[in-house]
Amino acid sequence: MKRQLILISVLVSASVVTSVSASEEESFGKWVMSISRTKEVKAVNNELYAEECGACHYAYPPGLLPIQSWEKLLDAKALEDHFGENAELDEADLASLQKYVYANSAEKSYYKRARKITRSISEGEAPLRITEVKYIKRKHHELTEEMVKGNKDVSSLSNCNACHTQAEKGIFDDDTVNIPNFGEWDD
Ligand code: HEC
Ligand code: HEC
Repeated sequence: MKRQLILISVLVSASVVTSVSASEEESFGKWVMSISRTKEVKAVNNELYAEECGACHYAYPPGLLPIQSWEKLLDAKALEDHFGENAELDEADLASLQKYVYANSAEKSYYKRARKITRSISEGEAPLRITEVKYIKRKHHELTEEMVKGNKDVSSLSNCNACHTQAEKGIFDDDTVNIPNFGEWDD
C-alpha cells in the first residue's frame, strides 16, 4: 500500500515536472542559483544611488530595510529634512532611485541577512533607521560606548563601513569586522 502511494506520488510529480515550460525551468534554475549565492546582503549596484546616497554616508544596500521604511525615507518632502540634513533630489532622480530601492528592499531579497531583517520587523512597523531594526540592534549589543559614540573614527553606529571592512560588498560577517582603535573582533 505504502509503496503504491509512493509510486503514485512519483508519477504525479514527474508529470508536473515535464509540463513545466523551458522558460519556467530556466527561471527556476536562476532562482536556485541565487539562493546558493545569497549569504549576505546584495551590494549596491546602481551608480546614481551610490553617488547620491553615498555622498554623506555609506550607501546603505536597499536589502537592509523593508519597502515600507524606504517609502518613508524616499519621500520628496521627507528628504528635505533627512535626519536634520537637506538631501532633496530632482523628480527624475528620485523616481529612478525609488524604482531601484523598492525592487531590492529586504522582503524581496533571498539574501540571508535581508531575510533575517524582514523577520525581525513586525507588520506595520517601518523603522527609519537600520540601526533600529531588532536584528541589527541585537547583533551590536556587546559594543560599548567607547567603541562607537566615543570613538573618534566611528562616532555613530550608522557608519557601518567604519567597522565592517567589506560593507561595500554587502558583507557584514563578524569575521570581517575591525573596530578602529580597538582592532579585529574575535567572538
Ligand atoms: C546631505 C547629507 C545626506 C545625504 C545626501 C543622504 N543622507 Fe542619509 N543620512 C544623513 C545623516 C546626517 C544621517 C544620520 C546619521 C547618524 O545618525 O549618524 C543619515 C541617515 C540615513 C539612514 C539611517 C541610518 C541608520 O540606520 O542609522 C538611512 C537609511 C539613510 N540615511 C538613507 C539615505 C538615502 C537612501 C539617501 C539618498 C536618497 C541618503 N541617505 C542621502 C545624511 C545624508
Ligand atoms: C563600531 C563598529 C560597528 C559599526 C559602526 C557597525 N557594526 Fe555591525 N558589527 C560590529 C561587530 C563587532 C559585530 C559582531 C558582533 C558579535 O559577533 O557579537 C557586528 C555584527 C554585525 C552583523 C552580524 C554579523 C554576523 O556575522 O552575524 C550585521 C548584519 C551587522 N553588524 C550590520 C551592520 C550594519 C548594517 C551597520 C550600519 C548600519 C553596522 N553593522 C555598524 C561592529 C560594528
